[in-house]
Amino acid sequence: MGRERLKIIGGSALEGEVQVSGGKNTSVAVIPAVLLSDQPCTIENVPDIEDVHALMDILEHLGARVRYIPGVSMTIDPTGVEDWHVGYHDAKRLRASYYLIGALLGRCGKAEVGFPGGCTIGSRPIDEHLKGFRALGAETEERGGMVVAQAKELTGGDVFFDMVTVGGTINVMLAAAKAKGTTIIYNAAKEPHIVDLANFLNSMGAKIKGAGTDVIRIKGQERLHGTTYAVIPDQIETGTLMIAAAATRGDVTIHGCIPTHMEALTAKLLEMGVRVSDSDDSIRVRMMTAHRAVNIKTQVYPGFPTDLQQPMSALLTTAHGTSLIQETIFDQRFKHLDEIARMGASVKVMGRTALIEGVPQLYGAPVTVTDLRAGAALIVAGLMASGVTEIYELEYIDRGYEHLEDKLRNLGAQIVREET
Ligand code: EPZ
Repeated sequence: MGRERLKIIGGSALEGEVQVSGGKNTSVAVIPAVLLSDQPCTIENVPDIEDVHALMDILEHLGARVRYIPGVSMTIDPTGVEDWHVGYHDAKRLRASYYLIGALLGRCGKAEVGFPGGCTIGSRPIDEHLKGFRALGAETEERGGMVVAQAKELTGGDVFFDMVTVGGTINVMLAAAKAKGTTIIYNAAKEPHIVDLANFLNSMGAKIKGAGTDVIRIKGQERLHGTTYAVIPDQIETGTLMIAAAATRGDVTIHGCIPTHMEALTAKLLEMGVRVSDSDDSIRVRMMTAHRAVNIKTQVYPGFPTDLQQPMSALLTTAHGTSLIQETIFDQRFKHLDEIARMGASVKVMGRTALIEGVPQLYGAPVTVTDLRAGAALIVAGLMASGVTEIYELEYIDRGYEHLEDKLRNLGAQIVREET
């Protein structure tokens, strides 16, 4: 058990203004992408989270020089990187370590990377990533807990994904950026961070077209150069804050976000009776009365994101009526509901479907985080509940949210972190 817990006294409406941090899932793709450059790169807006620190350590072990000033920028000089081996202990610290395979293949023509870690939200194979590398002429092998990929010469090729995979799309883009010739990815993921990574690589001299559609064309380049680039704001943090504002019947304006990335969530909140308005780079969420139940089906972008299913289902535990949630992306992403049931929620989970019957009130209880967004869901539940909620295993939350409890406290939440 971790040494710290969050203690929340629920019931305070969140009110005020908050700034969203830079994107986690875009940063963890952009940082390994620097390995493709011949020169140092500077990345702005990188969030100060554990997944970022894990990647910095890995890059340093590989021979890169990294200078990170949280809130300012991260500069990575990859010129000293000649190693292509990322061991088990480093790789298992985060899911995104799988991007080192694509990035090292692109840089060194070979990669030996331990199987990735990350949230246990179901089986998470990487067979599609490996299929993509093979289409680029690499040989791949899984040996002793390591993924080994190597190519005499990476050459462009056609990659047709059997399912839409965010990680697979990013990994193939990384390797293809330096392959000889053109790669076409069919059935590509369209998430905002796919577009952000393509923009980052293009700012290094890559030739990538079509990111944000389901066909991406990458004309490989022999050399990529240094750049300075600011990553997009975190779409899931924005959504978590929107849900927390609605859950506490508050009035919160989130600054620095991209409202068009939030449309699936905004539509659902409006359907529930929440008031949502936006400007170019801010969203205001207000909730005055009780909220209605809605049905949710998670989908790839621009559908409802699986990463917001968990905090959203926490909100739905106190909605008027019954909500049906279908999780189509991962097969075990309802563990948070077992914990929220301990706070008085009425939930029934059947495989990838959850039925939530709204109750008038949740009650504080000790609960345990099982994965990153489960942590967000338990915080939302704690903010809504009457009495004290204690949340354990905070390292999951720290992997992906920058100063979340400080932001919530500034909005009026009664939330403290303490030693157990
Ligand atoms: C990325 O995970 C994100 N992780 C996840 O963020 C996010 O939930 C997910 O995309 C979906 O949006 C990072 O960006 C680091 P996938 P990833 O490949 O790449 C199956 C968070 O909370 N699949 O799109 O692992 C897979 O099992 C998280 O921030 C294969 O079968 O997701 C899943 O069912 C957690 N074979 C589906 O595809 C493959 O080779 C989609 O997975 C690859 C995927």
